[in-house]
Amino acid sequence: MLRTSNESIDAKLLALCLLAVGLMTLAACSSEPKEDVSQKSTPGTFDAMALSLTDPDHVAGREIWMNTCQTCHLRGLTGAPMIGNKEAWKPRIEKGLDTLFNHAINGFIGPTYSEMPPKGGFAELSDEEVKKAVKFMTFASK
Ligand code: HEC
Repeated sequence: MLRTSNESIDAKLLALCLLAVGLMTLAACSSEPKEDVSQKSTPGTFDAMALSLTDPDHVAGREIWMNTCQTCHLRGLTGAPMIGNKEAWKPRIEKGLDTLFNHAINGFIGPTYSEMPPKGGFAELSDEEVKKAVKFMTFASK
């Protein structure tokens, strides 16, 4: 008797497991993962110092970027578009520099709810410094 009931428990468990696997497969098929272009280039491989820059704004911007924005924009942390990833930056650059200045200074939440915090969280930066960092990052990502 005991043996039979154990077997039926085993059978129920097996059925449950199969059901769970089935549901997981269904879920995996039905939810099309959104393509995240910000994660496309190899994270952390961009060498900002290797760029030869002529515009003094870009030179100053690089300095600021290295000390602040790099935290997220080098490796794509929290969904930040990675520097040098042309595909990720193209639609952003198309918004125009003024919009990007505004979003970098005042903060911006994108369509996938990833957040660019105001000044990247570096409140001590002046608006001009943030603008230079934006100019550098977009220049390096074209
Ligand atoms: C804490 C992480 C973090 C830091 C630090 C950070 N960013 Fe961002 N940034 C993000 C994220 C995440 C996004 C993408 C938001 C989205 O989904 O569109 C973003 C997007 C942007 C954009 C594109 C905005 C748009 O309208 O498409 C610009 C420009 C930008 N950041 C500039 C900067 C600059 C300049 C700095 C340094 C002063 C900086 N970021 C530092 C996380 C960061």
